[in-house]
Amino acid sequence: MSLALTSNDYQAIHDFLESQAGIRLGTGKEYLVTSRLGRLLPHLGLSGYSELAGRLNGFGNGALQTAVIDAMTTNETFWFRDIAHFRVLIDGLVAEARPQRLRIWSAAASTGQEAYTTAISLQDGMQSGRVPRGMRYEIVGTDISPTAVDEAKGATYCGVAAARGLSDDQRHRYFRDRGGCIEVLPKYREGVDFRTFNLLKPFDSLGRFDVVFCRNVLIYFSQERKRDIVARIARCLNPGGHLFLGSTESMSGNEDLFEMRSIAGGLVYRVRD
Ligand SMILES: C[S@@+](CC[C@H](N)C(=O)[O-])C[C@H]1O[C@@H](n2cnc3c(N)ncnc32)[C@H](O)[C@@H]1O
Repeated sequence: MSLALTSNDYQAIHDFLESQAGIRLGTGKEYLVTSRLGRLLPHLGLSGYSELAGRLNGFGNGALQTAVIDAMTTNETFWFRDIAHFRVLIDGLVAEARPQRLRIWSAAASTGQEAYTTAISLQDGMQSGRVPRGMRYEIVGTDISPTAVDEAKGATYCGVAAARGLSDDQRHRYFRDRGGCIEVLPKYREGVDFRTFNLLKPFDSLGRFDVVFCRNVLIYFSQERKRDIVARIARCLNPGGHLFLGSTESMSGNEDLFEMRSIAGGLVYRVRD
């Protein structure tokens, strides 16, 4: 019985994550495995990494697999991240199309800040007349991490998550106090829903969208997976739909499917007809 992480254990955990979640740890990331999975071992009743590695690919180990993926995801996010994207949405896309309805997908929603920032931006836009007042919207937030999705559904943020990206004024306007933590006001939770979903799975069950935010998740995937996911996003967009990527992410070989647009001070990709 050994608690040490051998190179074989690391390789097995690495390969499991890549095949089931698309996440590529790369070489030399043993510290990530030990820091994130070390504390899980006793909870899972496992004697060490070798037993974990041995069980990961076995049948009937769904709960173990989910727990490992959950622990190994990097859920970093914050309020109004890449704020230019929200200006593009309100002052570019909505201003030019004046839609009656908008269906939006936050495709790696993490703990929900991206989806709620979108709702806040739309509501503020309605208040100021930049978004049609009667416009209906639905925001679907999905993430592979059940823990992140639970936090997103709870809409209550503490510590750094209650501070990062927010001014004092925004904290007072969009949230209410919950014993030192902050909770998103009901007005900004309406029309926002979260569920667990793995981007490696077919998107059919999600329906079609006018706008997709797929930001800061493709960075973890191989070139082939990036290309495949971006191509499948193109197919789940309504005609004329738009895709936002993270600031360090690109079309990954799908330039023929999308046209890059620079509007309202930011970049967005429009699916070609
Ligand atoms: C760094 S966060 C980005 C959050 C948000 N989009 C943003 O830009 O602030 C990346 C998220 O992608 C999720 N993720 C990783 N692999 C995934 C997969 N195969 N399917 C769905 N979500 C995944 C992680 O759980 C994590 O919450």
